[in-house]
Amino acid sequence: MDILTNKANGILAITFNRLEKKNAITAAMYQIIADALKDAETDAEVRVILIAGKQGIFTAGNDLDDFLQNPPQSIDSPVYQFIQNLIHATKPVIAAVTGPAVGIGTTMLLHCDLVYAADNAKFSMPFSKLGLCPEFASSLLLPQIAGYQRAAEKLMLGEAFSAEEACTLGFVNKVLPSGEVLLYAQAQAAKIVELPTSSMRATKLLMKNKLTPAIENQIVEESILFGEMLVSKEAKEAFIAFFEKRKPDFTKFK
Ligand code: COA
Repeated sequence: MDILTNKANGILAITFNRLEKKNAITAAMYQIIADALKDAETDAEVRVILIAGKQGIFTAGNDLDDFLQNPPQSIDSPVYQFIQNLIHATKPVIAAVTGPAVGIGTTMLLHCDLVYAADNAKFSMPFSKLGLCPEFASSLLLPQIAGYQRAAEKLMLGEAFSAEEACTLGFVNKVLPSGEVLLYAQAQAAKIVELPTSSMRATKLLMKNKLTPAIENQIVEESILFGEMLVSKEAKEAFIAFFEKRKPDFTKFK
């Protein structure tokens, strides 16, 4: 199973488990996570959701082969279902990040309530390096969280940055040794399990309700551009270059 789900003691754990491909997320994996998030909404046994990777990798982001073969085209596609269900999750969502968190691996964190990162975590949003543009409302949320210039540096250059920097930017709560991050996140989740669900829901709603419509609008705008860019010559060159393990050459395009 490329995604593991486990429900115990009020915590729904969703774990990326496609280690041979660095937890790159396929459409089938998005669908499993989207369904798990949807079911959690109505499952009274679930009081908090914990998303994690495994063995030193959070996720390499969208599966680039999947992007090439089956670019997501409709608003019903699994990736958009995942995005919508995470945006509208009314229960607290915690992420525990070890190792690389690439693309949507980083942008999904902007929608989590608590993010804990290992000292070996590496964040990146390499959309420009792939001939793409930001997604998952990162073009709205990152400037708000980190400030315009700091967000522009991360979204325009697409370079990887450390957990310490992510903490300074403002979307990571705490940096821990890699062997401790999951345990710490689980302990934080256990605290939430003991608190009143009604207070959790109300707190989250009050913090997010003004922002959610703007997030939804931004996602629509991003998706239009992203969909066009996904089938561009630049993106094709970038994806093929990745699998050929070479640097893409964008200079041949005007
Ligand atoms: N899509 C599809 N396959 C991927 C992938 C992705 N996003 N990321 C990694 N893989 C595959 C590699 O092709 C490789 O497969 P192979 O063993 O059949 O050759 C395998 O996973 C291991 O990846 P590798 O690059 O050798 O691991 P690494 O430890 O050197 O680097 C990463 C790990 C995550 C830093 C690197 O794989 C990476 O940058 N991935 C691409 C991330 C990306 O651009 N994501 C899309 C964002 S929109």
